[in-house]
Amino acid sequence: MIQLHAVHHHFGERPVLQGLDLHLTERRVGVVGGNGSGKSTFARLLNGLLVPERGRVLVDGLDTRTDARAVRRQVGFVFQNPDNQIVLPTVEEDLAFGLKNLRLPPADVSARVTAALRRHDLEALRHHPAHLLSGGQKQLLALSSVLVMEPRYIVFDEPTTLLDLRNKRRLAQAIHALPQTAIVVTHDLELLHDFDRVLVFDEGRIVLDDVPAVALEAYVRSMA
Ligand SMILES: Nc1ncnc2c1ncn2[C@@H]1O[C@H](COP(=O)(O)OP(=O)(O)OP(=O)(O)O)[C@@H](O)[C@H]1O
Ligand SMILES: [Mg+2]
Repeated sequence: MIQLHAVHHHFGERPVLQGLDLHLTERRVGVVGGNGSGKSTFARLLNGLLVPERGRVLVDGLDTRTDARAVRRQVGFVFQNPDNQIVLPTVEEDLAFGLKNLRLPPADVSARVTAALRRHDLEALRHHPAHLLSGGQKQLLALSSVLVMEPRYIVFDEPTTLLDLRNKRRLAQAIHALPQTAIVVTHDLELLHDFDRVLVFDEGRIVLDDVPAVALEAYVRSMA
């Protein structure tokens, strides 16, 4: 479970998150809201990329302020732009990077990389230069490089903005099939239709928190 207790955050003078209290227990949580409403800031709190100025964020009881390393192992983060995530020259090296940092035996690294490649049909690209992949392939590689670490939670910040329709569908299916808990920030409301819960942000507050049918309809009306 992810818990936020009285979380506040400012950037300069500007309040960006204003009193978030939240227990996330559902497997699929969507996050929507207008530009600048605080969604990415919220997402970054969940794996300790950002520590709140006030309040606490707990992941299975681990505090992001004091247990950052352990939290980061439990919570993977998929960025909007996969170029921010892809760090090594080939697909294989990129997938192995985090595992090597965990000092796993080479045979285990290789087995987990192979399994990750299979999961998203990327086997043929094993030795391919990562920076030459298409946008959609990069996005799947970025997701794979998070999955290979076997986190318990995965946070996505606008994972489909760079994708064409086919790759959008592939990514939606990949999210759908995850055994993990997924928290997905997106402007692509269709992606959230079968989710368990949707949070609507406005000016750093959660103004709606409901099942998608209710939350998304109200959100669309509020934006009209
Ligand atoms: N590192 C930062 N320094 C200063 N201000 C920031 C920083 N990051 C975000 N902000 C500000 O905080 C507010 C919320 O930003 P955030 O990125 O969380 O919005 P968002 O809901 O993700 O928007 P979008 O839909 O455009 O991605 C914005 O006003 C933004 O300018
Ligand atoms: Mg954002």
